[in-house]
Amino acid sequence: LCGENLVTIDGPAGAGKTTVARELARRLGWRYLNTGALYRAVALAVLEEGCSEEEALRELQGCLRLEGERVFWAGRDVTEQLSHPEVGELASRISRLPPLREALLPLQREVARGGRLVAEGRDIGTVVFPWARHKFYLDAAFEERVRRRWQELRQRGLAISLQEVAEEIRRRDQQDRQRALAPLRPAPGAVYLDSTRLRVEEVVERMQQIILSQTP
Ligand code: DC
Repeated sequence: LCGENLVTIDGPAGAGKTTVARELARRLGWRYLNTGALYRAVALAVLEEGCSEEEALRELQGCLRLEGERVFWAGRDVTEQLSHPEVGELASRISRLPPLREALLPLQREVARGGRLVAEGRDIGTVVFPWARHKFYLDAAFEERVRRRWQELRQRGLAISLQEVAEEIRRRDQQDRQRALAPLRPAPGAVYLDSTRLRVEEVVERMQQIILSQTP
């Protein structure tokens, strides 16, 4: 297990992890892993198939597949459906179940084989890749995170109020931070970045500089 070519980005909802991780991976020429998409895919299966969390969990090994940035469930590309707030909320609720976290762990580590990966989520630097050399905790003020999420959802054509987004993010933050297993928190040694007043390029440039300074 080699953490040299491994970047982890953890942080709360709406901090800009996905945008930043994708751009950083592009600049480095590395791959990018959105671990939230895995939890969301399981939540989507529960919502769409009306199955129990246990059933979705049983099916998971055979059903969930990653192909680059696309997520497939039972052979169907479900990537577009994953961004719905309802899916995010259920993902947050079921992500406290130990069997689910355990089942997703080998899948995430499999992707990291060969290194050269930027992975983002809630427990990436603490639990999934604690041996990673480059760890970040990306944060932003609550109001700013709400505004970004709202804009993103509006752009996707979702009619949702700022208030609804604020409630969703507040609930998820609380759930993700307070669960017993793998709660959201900065990993030991993670560099804390507040993106409230920074543009995407500025965050990515700071990360690149830090990665460079951490590379012998
Ligand atoms: O990053 P995201 O908003 O797509 O994640 C959706 C939910 O999945 C998040 O609220 C909590 C859960 N999650 C997790 O528990 N651990 C991760 N590494 C990533 C996501």
